[in-house]
Amino acid sequence: MKKRDHPVDDVRRFLEPGPVVLVSSAWKGKTDIMTMGWHMVMGEAPSLVGCFIWDQNHSFEMIRKSRECVINVPAVDLAATVVKIGNTSGAAVDKFERFGLTAVPGRKVKAPLIDECHANFECRLVDSSLIRRYSLFVFEVVKGHARVRPKFPRTLHYRGDGLFMIAGPTVRRYRKGFKPEMLRA
Ligand SMILES: Cc1cc2nc3c(=O)[nH]c(=O)nc-3n(C[C@H](O)[C@H](O)[C@H](O)COP(=O)(O)O)c2cc1C
Repeated sequence: MKKRDHPVDDVRRFLEPGPVVLVSSAWKGKTDIMTMGWHMVMGEAPSLVGCFIWDQNHSFEMIRKSRECVINVPAVDLAATVVKIGNTSGAAVDKFERFGLTAVPGRKVKAPLIDECHANFECRLVDSSLIRRYSLFVFEVVKGHARVRPKFPRTLHYRGDGLFMIAGPTVRRYRKGFKPEMLRA
């Protein structure tokens, strides 16, 4: 099949799976929220998630110092808010107030949950060794909260350049050839 060269600095457009999440944090009586597309699952038990947090973001120091955050999963109903949160710095703005979001206290961390999101994962920073070099925070999810319905929310997935994909149908048709034991270490 004919293919063109593709610039290596653009391959992320194919690999960024999403879902886009909102990361909330708290430090010294203030809260913040950032939009995040660059994250990956790094383990199941313990449940580990690696997150790229740019050091110029206000959230960076809040999370580095508090060593906690909440990863909130929004669905398509929050799409416009997700973009606005990503276009605003929390240095001077209370994003919960500005965007009309409800902060719910965490059970295990001081960072607040965003009630309007479909799911909320309370996280503790368990490895800070890659922050300086890669801005990569490795978190352990210590408590999860998720709505029961819908089972598969219409999440947002970033395609770069301000373009988003909205999660589509969930299909069963490939399940019979699937070997779950091959996915586990
Ligand atoms: C769709 C989208 C995805 C983003 N993904 C990331 C990301 O993975 N990491 C990051 O550091 N910033 C990301 N950003 C940018 C931050 O959300 C943005 O800089 C935000 O304003 C930071 O807020 P803060 O300064 O209050 O922390 C993303 C923004 C958008 C709109």
